[in-house]
Amino acid sequence: MISIESVKTQYHTDIDNQVSIEEIEKKYLSRKGYIAQLFEEMKSISPEKKGAYGQEVNTLKKEIESYVSQHQHSQETPLRIHPIHIQDIQAEMGGMSPISWLMFRIQDIFSELGFSVATGPEIETEKYNFDALNIPDTHPARDIWDTMWIQDPLGVKSLLRTHTSPVQIHYMETHKAPLRIIAPGKVYRYEATDATHETVFHQVEGLMLDTQTSIATFKGVMHHFFSTLFKQDIKIRLRPSYFPFTEPSFEIDIWMDNTWLEIAGAGMVNRIVLKNAGITDADIQGFAFGVGIERLAMIAYGIDDVRLIHSADIRFTSQLGKITL
Ligand code: PHE
Repeated sequence: MISIESVKTQYHTDIDNQVSIEEIEKKYLSRKGYIAQLFEEMKSISPEKKGAYGQEVNTLKKEIESYVSQHQHSQETPLRIHPIHIQDIQAEMGGMSPISWLMFRIQDIFSELGFSVATGPEIETEKYNFDALNIPDTHPARDIWDTMWIQDPLGVKSLLRTHTSPVQIHYMETHKAPLRIIAPGKVYRYEATDATHETVFHQVEGLMLDTQTSIATFKGVMHHFFSTLFKQDIKIRLRPSYFPFTEPSFEIDIWMDNTWLEIAGAGMVNRIVLKNAGITDADIQGFAFGVGIERLAMIAYGIDDVRLIHSADIRFTSQLGKITL
């Protein structure tokens, strides 16, 4: 004959001893377990005590059942707190724009050749963007530069510079030859965008004036520049072209992937331009060039749509940040 008291005591001892859940379940709740045995005892309980006895056994049964179900549950899906590592919560990093990277790189290469960096305003007057560069109002070549005009409140006709060449004029007006500068910056053209055209893009202008600066000097500088940038010997070629501010004028092509790629406009600075900017010394001559940076980036990184470069799409920029020439 077993008593409720003895089963209770046994149960609490088992819990204190951390007896396994399966063991507890089997020992107390199975068909032949202690609770079943206690219910068996009911038969021999006097009728007036049956009710209270039954209740007490039931209460004990529920207590054991709830203990078992709680602990079974916690064994199946143990509560685990994962430590949080700093690399898990770090925001995704962007990369440096290929345009900024190329412009810095170009500055480095030219500074080693004694060129300094010059800047000019993005909002220009006709004088600097056109007239002083030998492109008067009536000149048909003005149409080459699809201009965005700005009407300022005082009625002064201004424009967003269409190229970095006006920086040449600003610099020559304030500095004496000999001189060597590059001028990186944004330029604006009023034209529809497509895979190879953007309304806002970047150029790096170059200007070198000295007494001995010839086309041969120019070709040597360009060869050095592209070979250093691409870290290999780059074949270059000058093709005849036309710009009002250079005479003669060239397109510079580089040989890459088995083809000639047009990469810059250039030429020997037109004497009219030197005069317009206040340089009258007949011994002074030199070259100027303008490289399109987006175009250079497309070639260097194999990008087939210029619009991606300014898209701020992290899938694109995060790749470029990792690539350097
Ligand atoms: N400014 C010209 C352009 O944007 C390029 C150029 C610069 C040509 C300097 C000759 C000399 O098309």
